Amino acid sequence: MNCAAFIIVTTSFLYLTDADNLYYSKDKDKDLQYLMEPPVYAEINARRRENATLPCILRTVPSQYRVKWSKVEPLHTGAENIVLMSNGHEVKYYGTWQYKASLRRLHALDISLRLTKLELQDWGLYKCELINGIDEESVTISLNIEGVVFPYQSSHGRYKFTFFDAKNACAEQDATLATYTQLFREWTEGLEWCNAGWINDGTVHYPILNPRPACGKDLPPGIRSYGPRHKTKDRFDAFCFTSTTEGSVFYVPGPLNFLEATHACKEKGASLARVGELYSSWKFQRLERCDGGWLQDGSVRFPIITPRKRCGGFSQQGVHNFGFLKKSVSLYGAYCYK
Ligand SMILES: *[C@@H]1O[C@H](CO)[C@@H](O)[C@H](O)[C@H]1NC(C)=O
Repeated sequence: MNCAAFIIVTTSFLYLTDADNLYYSKDKDKDLQYLMEPPVYAEINARRRENATLPCILRTVPSQYRVKWSKVEPLHTGAENIVLMSNGHEVKYYGTWQYKASLRRLHALDISLRLTKLELQDWGLYKCELINGIDEESVTISLNIEGVVFPYQSSHGRYKFTFFDAKNACAEQDATLATYTQLFREWTEGLEWCNAGWINDGTVHYPILNPRPACGKDLPPGIRSYGPRHKTKDRFDAFCFTSTTEGSVFYVPGPLNFLEATHACKEKGASLARVGELYSSWKFQRLERCDGGWLQDGSVRFPIITPRKRCGGFSQQGVHNFGFLKKSVSLYGAYCYK
């Protein structure tokens, strides 16, 4: 890395503190009259394809009121992203939220929001607002999708992705670009990657656990940040984020070249796994296999839970990568997804 001049070591608490302030910034100086505060849980964790409830409970029921649920972060278009409005009897849904959102309404005080079939992009900050005449109060709840972050590099080598290439590359691997919080969380669980990669807000970072000269000199361990970079001119790797999948990954023994591996999966009614699917099976189904196998993108990888000397000599659990190999002559097994 010769970009030492750009490196800012982010103290991760800076980010966390900023995020914390968001929660209770509103109305924090006065007690809420109508809404329970804190709203049972200020943060909800759930996995992709699960349902989640964002709690919001009335303390008293005003004679006339309106409830408004909106998603306040991230805001992609700048316009207010309203999920639903209700006058206590009828509910009006906005846009595609009608397919995903509903008011829970377990009892008269319950104005919690239910979200079904969570997707990777549903994470963010949601606001429950009560409007009673000219009075207005709100609580916010953060929804966090549990998942796994993995670094991804182009088959053409290191630092080949513009921001938009990186976004597409993650999508092709059943993932999205990671958020800073997701990357930070993965670092606390052992992610180290000595190459800088894009995350979802257009900034570039790399996570280091064991500082060494080749990886940003003797800066302390942490997420090293290059800050925002030019989205179409600058090129880096990507940090992708994925969560649970409907199917799972299984191994078919080789020796197979890439084409044979493709057929081997097809014969079993499956297809070669995408990188995100292999990471998901490793993380959530504890898939472990000490054999390299082809994936759909032409890379050869294997998932390890318990590191062993005989197993590539890696000292850490993880999905290990042999890289993009010659498709016609390299012989390995296949990781299939079904
Ligand atoms: C999620 O909600 C839907 C619709 O209410 C329901 O059919 C489904 O069983 C729920 N899934 C889980 C995992 O609870």
